[in-house]
Amino acid sequence: MNVLLLGSGAREHALAWRLADSPLCAELFIAPGNAGTDQYGTNLALDLTDFDAVRSAVVAHNVRLVVCGPEEPLVRGLQDYFSTDEELKSVYFIGPSRKAARLEGSKAYAKAFMSEYGIPTAGYRRFTVDDRAEGEAYLETRTPPIVLKADGLAAGKGVVIVDSVAEAKTELRAMLEGKFGEAGSTVVVEDFLDGIEFSVFVLTDGKSYRLLPVAKDYKRIGAGDTGPNTGGMGSVSHPPFVDPDMMRMVEQRIVQPTLQGIQARKLDYRGFIFLGLIVVDGEPQVIEYNCRLGDPETQSVMARLQSDLMQLLLETVEGDLSTAVVRMDPRQAATVVLVSGGYPGSYEKGKVITGLEEVTDSMVFHAGTTRNAKGEVVTNGGRVLSVTSYGDTFEDALATSYANAKKIHFEGVTYREDIGFDL
Ligand code: AMP
Ligand code: GLY
Repeated sequence: MNVLLLGSGAREHALAWRLADSPLCAELFIAPGNAGTDQYGTNLALDLTDFDAVRSAVVAHNVRLVVCGPEEPLVRGLQDYFSTDEELKSVYFIGPSRKAARLEGSKAYAKAFMSEYGIPTAGYRRFTVDDRAEGEAYLETRTPPIVLKADGLAAGKGVVIVDSVAEAKTELRAMLEGKFGEAGSTVVVEDFLDGIEFSVFVLTDGKSYRLLPVAKDYKRIGAGDTGPNTGGMGSVSHPPFVDPDMMRMVEQRIVQPTLQGIQARKLDYRGFIFLGLIVVDGEPQVIEYNCRLGDPETQSVMARLQSDLMQLLLETVEGDLSTAVVRMDPRQAATVVLVSGGYPGSYEKGKVITGLEEVTDSMVFHAGTTRNAKGEVVTNGGRVLSVTSYGDTFEDALATSYANAKKIHFEGVTYREDIGFDL
C-alpha cells in the first residue's frame, strides 16, 4: 500500500528508511521531507497545517496509510480531519485525535490526567491571568529551583527553570502577559525533579501496547549538559542505567495507568506515546508526554528496531497490537547531531555540505538540508544531520559516529563531543 509520512526531520528520514524497507510499503511519499528522505521515496512540498493540501495529496497518490511525525498537525486535529471526511475515513492514520494529543498540547491537561490516574510526576499548580496573585502567593511557598511551563505548544521553548522565587514571579508574569503568546495563557508551576532522564516509546492501538527500544537524548547545546535547550544533540539506545527492574516500574506505574486513562477518557489514540521520564531516588516519574516519537531518539531507536515497522503500524491501526512482536537488535546504537553554527540562536542557511560520501559504517539521517540550484546538498535549518552507528557497547557506537562526523563539513558545523558522558 502507498504511504504518506509527514515531517521533515532526521526522525522522519529514519522512519522513511524503515518504512521503505518493508515489503508491505508500495510507494512512499514524504511531506515535506528533506534532501535525505528522497532517497527512500518522493518528497511532496506540503504545508502540514494546510489539511486540505494534505487531503489532495492523499487522494492524488492513492495513499492508504498516513504516519504523522511531528506533534503540531495532531494537536491541531489532523487525525479528526481524516476520521470525519467521507473519502479519508478509510485511510489508516498513525497519530492520536486532537483531544488525545492534549497529553502533549496542554501541560495542564497532562498533569490533571496523571494526577487522576495516579501516575508519578512532579507536584504542580496551574494559574491563569485571573489568579496571578494566587500564583505569586504559591511561588512564595516553593523552594527553588522552580519550573514554569507554558501550557500550550511553544516550539520547545515553553519550559523555564529559575533559581529564586523573585525570578519565578517575573517569569510567571511574563508568561501570563504573552511571552509565549496564547500558549502561556495558562502556566503550570512544577516542583523541580533532580535525576537522570530517559525516553520510553510506546506504540498503542488505544488498548494494548508494545514498547520500542529505550533511548536517552541530550537536549542542551553545551558539553556537560550546559547552555540553552535545543531540539536534541544526540541519543543513545539502550541507556545502561535503565535495567529490567526500572522497566517493570515504568510499565506498571506509568504505561499501564496511562492506557487505562486513555480508555477511561475514551480518547482515540492509535500511534506513539513518548514518555519523557526522570529517575528520582531509583524510581521513574513523568516529566512530559509527547504524542509522537522523539528526535534524535528515533534515529537510534529505528536503528535497533528489527521488526517490520510497517507491519507494526498496520497492527496498530487495526487494533491488534496484543499479538505483535517487537524484535530489537542486541547491538547498541548512538546518534550525534551536527548543527549550524549559532544554533539554537540565529544561524545562516545555504552552506554547502561535503564529505557525505566518505562516511562508512554509519547512517546519516538528514534534517535541515535541501538542494541548491546546482544540485548540491546545503544546510536549511539548525539541526542539519544525524550520524547514527551501531556498536557492541554504546561507547563503540559513539566512537564510530564521531569518526564519521569528522568527515562531514559545512561552514560553522558544530556538535557535542560528549554524548553519553553521564552513562
Ligand atoms: P518538557 O518540555 O516538559 O520536556 O521540559 C523540557 C526539559 O525541562 C525536560 O527535558 C527537563 O530537562 C526539564 N524539566 C521539565 N520539567 C522538569 C521538572 N519538573 N524538574 C526538572 N526538570 C524539568
Ligand atoms: N528529543 C526530545 C523531543 O523530541 O522532544
